[in-house]
Amino acid sequence: MGWWTRAAARLGIVTGARVGPGGVAAAALLAAVAVARPAQSVELAISCGALGIELRLCTDGVRAWERKTGNRVEVVSTPNSSNERLALYQQLLSAQADDIDVLQIDVVWPGVLASHLVDLSPYLADAAGQHFATIIANNTVDGRLLAMPWWTDAGLLFYRSDLLEKYGRAPPESWPELAETARLVQEGERAAGHPRIWGFVWQGRAYEGLFCNALEWLVGFGGGTVIDAEGHPTIANPGAEAAFAAARSWVGTISPRGVLNYDEEAARGVFQAGHAVFMRNWPYAWALAQGEDSPVRNKVGVAPLPPAEPGGVGAGTLGGWNLAVSRYSRHPAAAADLVRHLTGAAEQKRRAVTAAYNPTIPALYEDADILRANPFYAQLRPILAEAVARPSRIAGRRYARLSSLVWRATHDIVARGVDPGPRLERLAAEIRRLARRSGWGAVQ
Ligand code: GLC
Repeated sequence: MGWWTRAAARLGIVTGARVGPGGVAAAALLAAVAVARPAQSVELAISCGALGIELRLCTDGVRAWERKTGNRVEVVSTPNSSNERLALYQQLLSAQADDIDVLQIDVVWPGVLASHLVDLSPYLADAAGQHFATIIANNTVDGRLLAMPWWTDAGLLFYRSDLLEKYGRAPPESWPELAETARLVQEGERAAGHPRIWGFVWQGRAYEGLFCNALEWLVGFGGGTVIDAEGHPTIANPGAEAAFAAARSWVGTISPRGVLNYDEEAARGVFQAGHAVFMRNWPYAWALAQGEDSPVRNKVGVAPLPPAEPGGVGAGTLGGWNLAVSRYSRHPAAAADLVRHLTGAAEQKRRAVTAAYNPTIPALYEDADILRANPFYAQLRPILAEAVARPSRIAGRRYARLSSLVWRATHDIVARGVDPGPRLERLAAEIRRLARRSGWGAVQ
C-alpha cells in the first residue's frame, strides 16, 4: 500500500497507515524521472486489482502500451475487497486528486462514481460497438459512457470431478443436492484420512462478495432480486427466507465457520489446496486451479449454480470490471488511449488465454485459441447471458449503501443466527427508507 499511503499523506487523508521517509524519497525520484522525459510523453497512473495474477496481467498490458506510445504508466495495486477499493477511490476522487488517471471500476459502480468520471464517448465511441451492448448500457449514465468493459464475470460452481466420480455423484442440480453430495464426500474423505476437507466454500465475509453469493441463493429459491424494477423492496418473502435458512444450515456442517470471513481468494486457497469438494467463485479461479503447480490440476469441473429444485431457475451473479478515466486526470486523451488498448480485442484475447478473464467482446467467444485454453467457455456463454444483475442501475449513486444494507442483513442471518423472517422485514424497511431519501421510482 505504499503508493496509497503516499497519496493519502499528500492529500491529508487519514488512512491509519504511516508514511516513512522512503515515501518522500520515492516521490522525489519520480519527480526527477518526470523532468528527464521527452516533452511529448506523458506520465499516467492506473489502478488495478491484484487477485491471483491480476496485477501482473494488468502490468504486462500496460507495458505493451508504453512501448507503443513512449508514455510512462505507474501501476498501482488496490485492495482485493471491492468495498475497500471503492472507499479508497471515493477518498481520492472527492479530494479531486489527479494521482490516478485510469481506474479499474466494478460493474456496479458507474452510478456511484459518475460525477468523477470522464465521458469516454468522444474518445472511444467507435470501440464501444464491439462490446456486449448490455455492459455498454450499464456503463452509460445520463447518456455519458463512463467506462469501457474490460472483463465480465458470472458466479460459478466449481467441483472436484475426481471426488464426484469416486462417490458416484453428478454435479448437483439443486442446492439441497449440493449440500447432500458435499456432506457425503466430506464424511467419506474425512474417514479416509483427509480431516481438513470441507464440502463447500464460498464468500461469507461481510462485504460486496456476500451480496453476490446471496443473490444466487435468492434467485435459486425464487426469492427475487432484492428490489423490483421500480425500486420497491421485494426481499421479505418466503423464498428469500428459505434461501437464507439454507445458507445458514451449511455453516459449521458442510462449510467451515471460517467461511464467514472468506473472500474470493480465501475460498480459492482452500479449494485449490484440495481441501474442498465444491467452491462458489468467479471464472478467474479456473485458470489458477488448472495451473502447473496446482494440486487440483485436471480435477476440476465447472457447473452453473443450482436452483432450489431440479429443473428450476438458478443463476450466477453478474460481475465484471471496467476501465474509467478520472475527471481530475491531466491527460484524459492519453488515458483514454490506454483504456482503448487495454480493453481492445488483442489484449482481451491475451488475458482470456493466459488467465481465463472473460472477454466483453462477443466475437472472442468464437476464437479457437481462447476456446482451447478455456474449454468451459462453451458452458459459460449461456451462464453469462442469464447472469443476474445486482440492482445498481436503479440505486445509482446510492448503490454502495443499498449493497451494505443487504450484506449486513445476510451476515446477521448466516453468521449470527438472526431469524431470517424478521430480519428480512427490517431489511425491506431499511431499503424503503433509503429509496425514499434517494428518490427511486415512486416508492412510498
Ligand atoms: C468480482 C466481480 C465484481 C464483484 C466482486 C465482489 O470481482 O467481478 O463485480 O463486485 O467480485 O467481491
